[in-house]
Amino acid sequence: MDLKSVRYSVENKVGTITIARPEAMNALNKQVLTDLRVLLHELDQKREVRACILTGEGEKAFVAGADIKEMEGLSPAQAREMAVQGQALMQKIEDLPFPVIAAVNGFALGGGLELALACDFMLASNKAKWGLPEVTLGLIPGYGGTQRLSRNLGRALARRVALSGEMFSAQQGYEWGLFTQLCEPADLMPAARKLAGVLATRAPMAMAWVKEAINHGSDRTQAEGLKLESDLFGRTFETKDHLEGIKAFVEKRPADFQGH
Ligand code: CAA
Repeated sequence: MDLKSVRYSVENKVGTITIARPEAMNALNKQVLTDLRVLLHELDQKREVRACILTGEGEKAFVAGADIKEMEGLSPAQAREMAVQGQALMQKIEDLPFPVIAAVNGFALGGGLELALACDFMLASNKAKWGLPEVTLGLIPGYGGTQRLSRNLGRALARRVALSGEMFSAQQGYEWGLFTQLCEPADLMPAARKLAGVLATRAPMAMAWVKEAINHGSDRTQAEGLKLESDLFGRTFETKDHLEGIKAFVEKRPADFQGH
């Protein structure tokens, strides 16, 4: 893989993706988006990781949004296409069969917050700042922010964030339930690795189906969501891992899941 603005490493079945454009606050330019697309496709195909961490390089920014300079001069049709492409990438992250942890190490603004919202967990440094500043640029969020933030926080808080364009503290994000954990900056990656390490011991297919049931079930009626859940529950009994999980419980030992 020839990645230019994104770094990737894997250790003990945990992948770490680092967006590496610190000179531009890790803003999502075309190169970063292309790198992410290539990398995520590869991860989805190879299935070598059981959990992944996504973070930004440096101490200042997770990702400070879409690249504003690249947006200058776009026609309405090009802007719409940019949003469609960006949304598809965020959807790809949400649909990955393994959990993704956003380690929000600094500014998560606009497209940066939208990227984190596509992940399954957001852990944040207590110095992080976040928001949807698009209205300050005469724009609206285009990578899923209006939809995922209102689903995560409810419409009232999503309006508060997206209509004001203000920046919010990590503490505020924690109190509203956006971040599941706040850390000192130096403790953020160790905390993300610890969580990823736990996830990596869980049954991979069961995790994929938990994601599917939550992500796809919660937009349906409760009856339809429950049907999806019972169908997926049934499918877990097709896996060897469920035999191993139940056997390990009976034998009072940790389960050793193989992912099938
Ligand atoms: N796009 C392009 N370049 C960016 C950028 C962005 N989103 N954010 C920061 N940069 C660049 C700056 O232009 C600057 O580059 P130069 O040194 O070449 O001037 C460099 O990163 C450092 O930034 P600052 O000097 O501004 O650093 P700061 O510490 O004073 O401020 C900041 C940091 C508050 C994050 C500020 O950079 C900022 O407000 N950035 C823009 C945030 C934003 O509006 N994001 C939304 C983008 S629109 C979007 O995302 C649409 C969508 O939903 C798809």
